[in-house]
Amino acid sequence: QKPGLELAVVSVPSYACQRHTPLLHHNITLTDALSILAENAELGENEGRGVAFRRAAALLKSLPQEVRGAEQLRGLPCLGEHSLRVIKEVLEDGVSHEVETTTHSEQFKAMKALTGIFGVGAKTADRWFKEGIHTPSDLQRSGHTLNRAQRAGLQYYDELNLPVTKSEAVAIGQIVERAVHAVLPGAEITLIGGFRRGKQTGHDVDFLITHPDEGREEGLMPKVVSWLEAQGFLLYQKTTGNSYLESKEGPARPASNMDRFERCFSIFRLSTDNEGREIQTGNGPRSWRAVRVDLVVSPYSQFPFALLGWTGSKLFERELRRWAVHEKAMTLSSHALYDRKRTLYLRASSEEEIFAHLGLEYIPPCDRNA
Ligand code: GTP
Ligand code: MN
Ligand code: MN
Repeated sequence: QKPGLELAVVSVPSYACQRHTPLLHHNITLTDALSILAENAELGENEGRGVAFRRAAALLKSLPQEVRGAEQLRGLPCLGEHSLRVIKEVLEDGVSHEVETTTHSEQFKAMKALTGIFGVGAKTADRWFKEGIHTPSDLQRSGHTLNRAQRAGLQYYDELNLPVTKSEAVAIGQIVERAVHAVLPGAEITLIGGFRRGKQTGHDVDFLITHPDEGREEGLMPKVVSWLEAQGFLLYQKTTGNSYLESKEGPARPASNMDRFERCFSIFRLSTDNEGREIQTGNGPRSWRAVRVDLVVSPYSQFPFALLGWTGSKLFERELRRWAVHEKAMTLSSHALYDRKRTLYLRASSEEEIFAHLGLEYIPPCDRNA
């Protein structure tokens, strides 16, 4: 007598933005397997396939209990034929043949190692792989001309692939706050990305900066960066200016992950003295480490949209935009929400209001871990 039907009876909505997805869930073995296949598809630039595996994994993350048999999955959305096959295999044999083959494949290992270099995307990694470059060391020896980001990525490779802890994120936050307040008192700094969703570690630390007096935030980033540089906190930075103009943007612009805020992709030099931790390097131990930090500046009126757009997860964001377009005839970005039927922009002063405009139950950040 299996506890079969309970799960199937519960009706689960099909968009991830309609569900609560906590960080800790009951189906890690299954979601790990599907995530490997998603990652492999993304590295092979097969986005559609990647999304299908991500959606299936997200569905499993939202279930209130462990799936023990395939019959429990009847009636659940988001599970395509391929994902179901993998799930069944893992449930029956403990492993999936396809997942095993993938994790052991030279190409997958090389693509992961190469895209693990800051500044290296799937296209570049694939080109190098075809030239026989499989590791960062191979790349180092190859004599390829690298751009500034990639040189920094290679130089700090090991550290940047070390998870950033919550306490390191807090320490970075204090530095960012000092920098921002030194150049613009009254500015507000919010921790976004995975840490806002309750993650205890991350691949980077993300911050959103705004000021209650609209317009005061303009041109803030170069000043913050200069301050940080003068104090020796930056190992690398690339700042991009704000290129958003509501009039030019146009509501018909295709849904895209890229926004036009003033931003800075950086690598911080964080002292590890407080944690009593030493970083081992080729040149011996040292008392600081490199940490990836993303800074974004938003005008106050767009802040709720920026906050929602930069809190993630990536799949949750994608699902929000898909819901908006397909179910509500609206366009959601990190800047605004546009109602195509009424041909107007919908204002919001909080994330809650954006969910309400979209006709969705409010999902708090800790439940956006789709
Ligand atoms: P870890 O950093 O691995 O802990 O996860 P994370 O969820 O914080 O991921 P990441 O830092 O890559 O991104 C944080 C959020 O910002 C995600 O929701 C992304 O979708 C979003 N994001 C990242 N880059 C961009 C971008 O260029 N434009 C927009 N609009 N959003 C972005
Ligand atoms: Mn992040
Ligand atoms: Mn980031």
